[in-house]
Amino acid sequence: MAENLIIADGSKEEKYELLLKQITAVTATESDIIANMSNTAAMIHHTFGFWWTGFYRVVGNELVLGPFQGPLACSRIAYGRGVCGTAWKEQATQIVPDVEQFPGHIACSSLSRSEIVVPVWSDKEIVAVLDIDSEQLATFDEIDQVWLEQIVALLYK
Ligand code: SME
Repeated sequence: MAENLIIADGSKEEKYELLLKQITAVTATESDIIANMSNTAAMIHHTFGFWWTGFYRVVGNELVLGPFQGPLACSRIAYGRGVCGTAWKEQATQIVPDVEQFPGHIACSSLSRSEIVVPVWSDKEIVAVLDIDSEQLATFDEIDQVWLEQIVALLYK
């Protein structure tokens, strides 16, 4: 597989379309979840230039920081806490257009303004969440949700 990330010109959908193909190729022959999370975080992050892109893994009764791109982040998040813990508890993607309006939002960085968190499933269990933060308000919508849910479905074999 190509070692260089190729970023499509054009719309968000066109960028995601090419990104999904590349993540599929990179993860197809790799069964190690940390390797897959690492490359996936890097490829999403560098395609869109987000502020922070990474994973928190379910470890016992909390989320523990996994592979990410971007600045230093909180190491552990309790079940039901913040946007990440809420996505885990509600078992559903959370789109937050303005983090200051989200009760209990955990501010790892004061520069983060909007956020999306997507659960990562293995069979019928959530094993991690993908968290993406933006420095702009209202960066994420249902288009991101649809594509990111397809991307995280590639991670566990
Ligand atoms: N804002 C997240 C915490 C993780 S950091 O933003 C990387 C939350 O509220 O769950």
